Amino acid sequence: ARTAVVIPAAGRGVRLGPGAPKALRALGGTPMLVHAVRAMARARDVGLIVVVAPPEGATDVRHLLDAHPLPSTGHTADVVVVPGGATRQDSVRLGLAVLPEEIEVVLVHDAARPLVPAETVDAVIAAVRAGAPAVVPAVPLTDTVKQVDPRGDGTPEPVTGTPERALLRAVQTPQGFDRALLAEAHAAGPAEGEGATDDAGLVERLGRPVVVVPGHEEAFKVTRPLDLLLAEAVLTRRRA
Ligand code: CTP
Ligand code: MG
Repeated sequence: ARTAVVIPAAGRGVRLGPGAPKALRALGGTPMLVHAVRAMARARDVGLIVVVAPPEGATDVRHLLDAHPLPSTGHTADVVVVPGGATRQDSVRLGLAVLPEEIEVVLVHDAARPLVPAETVDAVIAAVRAGAPAVVPAVPLTDTVKQVDPRGDGTPEPVTGTPERALLRAVQTPQGFDRALLAEAHAAGPAEGEGATDDAGLVERLGRPVVVVPGHEEAFKVTRPLDLLLAEAVLTRRRA
C-alpha cells in the first residue's frame, strides 16, 4: 500500500506524572503505544508504520512491539522504529525522513491517542485519497473558550475576547496528508514554540488548505492522570 503512518511516541509524559515514557505506560495491561499501532494497522490502506521512540529507547520499543503482534486482518503493515527528538515536531520530522519513495499518503498519529476508532482513521484516509491534501479529524467544543491577557503573576487574568464556540473545533489525530506537502511543510516549518502545535498548522503556514472531518470522542489524548482513568473505562466498556 502507498499509505504510511508516523507515530510520534518519543515524549516523556511530564503531565501524566512520574514513571516510564508515556507511550510505554500500560492501558488495560498493554502499552499505550501498542494500542495506537494496532489502531493504525487495522486500516487496510496502511502498509507501513513508523514508530518514533524515545531517543534512548528505540531498542526497547522494538522488542516491545515484537512481543505484541498486530491484529490479523488479512494484510500486514511493516513496523519500523526510529529514535525521536527533543520536540514533537522534531520527532515527526525524523519519522518522515525514513519513508520510502513510493509513499503517497502519510498519516501522523499521536501514541497518546491509543483508542482512536477505526472509522476515524478510515475517514481521514478517504478524504486524502479523495483529493484533500491535508485533513484533520476534529470535534466541536463543549466548553466556552475565553481569550485572556496572561499575566503570569497570579493576579486574575483580564478577558480579551470570546470566540464564537460554534466556529471552533478541537483537533485530534491521525491527521492525513499528501506526503510531498507534509514534507514541504516540515522543511519550511519554524522552530516549535513559534506557533504551530500540530502538523496541519505547518501546512496552514504555507497558505495551503486544510479540511476537517468528524473526529471521535474516544480519540481523546491521554495527557493527565484523569485521562488515563477515562481511557481505562473506555477499554473496559469495549471489552464488555
Ligand atoms: N512526542 C514525541 N517527541 C517529543 C515530544 C512528544 O514524539 N519530543 C509525542 C508524544 O510521545 C505523544 C505526542 O507527541 O505521543 C503528543 O505529545 P504529548 O501528548 O504532549 O506527549 P508528551 O510530550 O509525552 O507529554 P508531556 O507534554 O506531558 O510531557
Ligand atoms: Mg508534550
